[in-house]
Amino acid sequence: MDDFLDAIRNDHHNFDKGKLSDHFGDNPLELFKKWYKEAFESTQAEPNAMSLSTVSEAGKPSSRILYLKELAEDGFVFYTNYQSEKGKNLESNPNACLLFFWNVLEREVRIEGKATKVSAALSDEYFASRPRGSQLGAWASHQSDVLEDRSELEARLVELAKKYPNEVPRPPHWGGYVIEAQKLEFWQGRPSRLHDRIVFEKENDSWEIYRKNP
Ligand SMILES: Cc1cc2nc3c(=O)[nH]c(=O)nc-3n(C[C@H](O)[C@H](O)[C@H](O)COP(=O)(O)O)c2cc1C
Repeated sequence: MDDFLDAIRNDHHNFDKGKLSDHFGDNPLELFKKWYKEAFESTQAEPNAMSLSTVSEAGKPSSRILYLKELAEDGFVFYTNYQSEKGKNLESNPNACLLFFWNVLEREVRIEGKATKVSAALSDEYFASRPRGSQLGAWASHQSDVLEDRSELEARLVELAKKYPNEVPRPPHWGGYVIEAQKLEFWQGRPSRLHDRIVFEKENDSWEIYRKNP
């Protein structure tokens, strides 16, 4: 076997940076905020990167990395193309799962909930705050469609820069989604694979809290 594959297989990481024994409170969004802040204050690269899993109409799952952009009262907000693969999936099946992995803190947070589009006003506001290049890119990219040649995309960008010499309006097919969490799991690595897993599950507007085997 290749040496590096052997080395990876034999790297038995010991998790010992923290515990989630007590003081996790009764509000998972507050706990998320605390962990998010701790990830930002640590050496963790891109703590706002998360995986989003969706399921197609045919029942097939797919995942991709996105940036969390807002932590709103009603949930977790990200921005994307509504006509992308994820957008089509969420249109037919709004159930989604977000996953954060903060390796520096040996933490994982898993969030399940339904996605809804944020208001056009909120999408407008965020779009307007983006750099011009990203704004033009949102128009130029027919996200997830087959692209015959990269030159097509670049040509579209040149045309769009001429069409919008000043302000770039938000494309109607681009905007935010908010995932309203119904279930959150906080995972903290512990020695001997006896990790802490605390689950918060919404039942009739209140949170049921339980621990899971690692
Ligand atoms: C670090 C990172 C951050 C990303 N952030 C976003 C994002 O915020 N929005 C987005 O639409 N795509 C983002 N992407 C690209 C997506 O992973 C994905 O390729 C794209 O959204 C198309 O996904 P889909 O075809 O499954 O819809 C990001 C990729 C990486 C690696």
